[in-house]
Amino acid sequence: MAVSIKSAREIELMRESCRILSEVHERLGEFIKPGISTWEIDELGEKLIRSYDCIPNFLHYNGYPASVCVSVNDEVVHGIPSKKRILREGDIVSLDAGLIYKGYHSDAARTYPVGTISKEAAKLIEVTRQSFFEGIKFAKAGNHLYDISNAIDAYVTGFGYGIVRDLVGHGIGTSLHEEPQIPNFKQWRRGIKLQPGMTLAIEPMINMGDYDVAWLDDDWTVVTTDGSLSAHYENTVLITEGEPEILTLPKA
Ligand code: MF3
Ligand code: CO
Repeated sequence: MAVSIKSAREIELMRESCRILSEVHERLGEFIKPGISTWEIDELGEKLIRSYDCIPNFLHYNGYPASVCVSVNDEVVHGIPSKKRILREGDIVSLDAGLIYKGYHSDAARTYPVGTISKEAAKLIEVTRQSFFEGIKFAKAGNHLYDISNAIDAYVTGFGYGIVRDLVGHGIGTSLHEEPQIPNFKQWRRGIKLQPGMTLAIEPMINMGDYDVAWLDDDWTVVTTDGSLSAHYENTVLITEGEPEILTLPKA
């Protein structure tokens, strides 16, 4: 299957799907504080998504049991919410969520501090977020896909962090995962040419230490093998002739 180009009508539906998701993320971000369980975050996320008559697209995806992936500290992505996992002051927590609106998927992730965190952890979160913005400077028609990957790599590598290689970003539309795959680390080719109407989920996952990751016995939770902290930042983006439209951020 080739990379899909969305029609004007499909772009409107993607915009609305993503706008709703950005509101869900804002509400979830406000909810983060020491003492809550990761299960409560998922419960609120599912409730919010359904309150917009949308469907949580992660729930039951390949058997995933929740609507929001909640990943704490050395957990990179796909943490499974649990009543027993209580957030503590100084933790960092990554929330990854997505939804379906009238058949169109959105996907976004943010990492939050829990109370006061170390300077080092705050820097990891900020560099991860900024790496997305460095990448999308190249996300426009006429450039090539891996220009994005290479820009993220060039920025992050300067900090000595590890860029996760086993997981990548992806096209998105009538499915959560469409072509193409979007690595966050250096590629030796330029990849496909970007075209207006492509919708891409760009999602750097950055470790404070080594890039290597492992899967826990629950078959979902991805952790850093060296135990270092990890952060995640993701938005669904529309490629245009000019600047990309970041669909899952609130309009300025
Ligand atoms: N945002 C994640 C991704 O792009 C989706 C989580 S997979 C799920 O792969 F199974 F947890 F839904
Ligand atoms: Co994604």
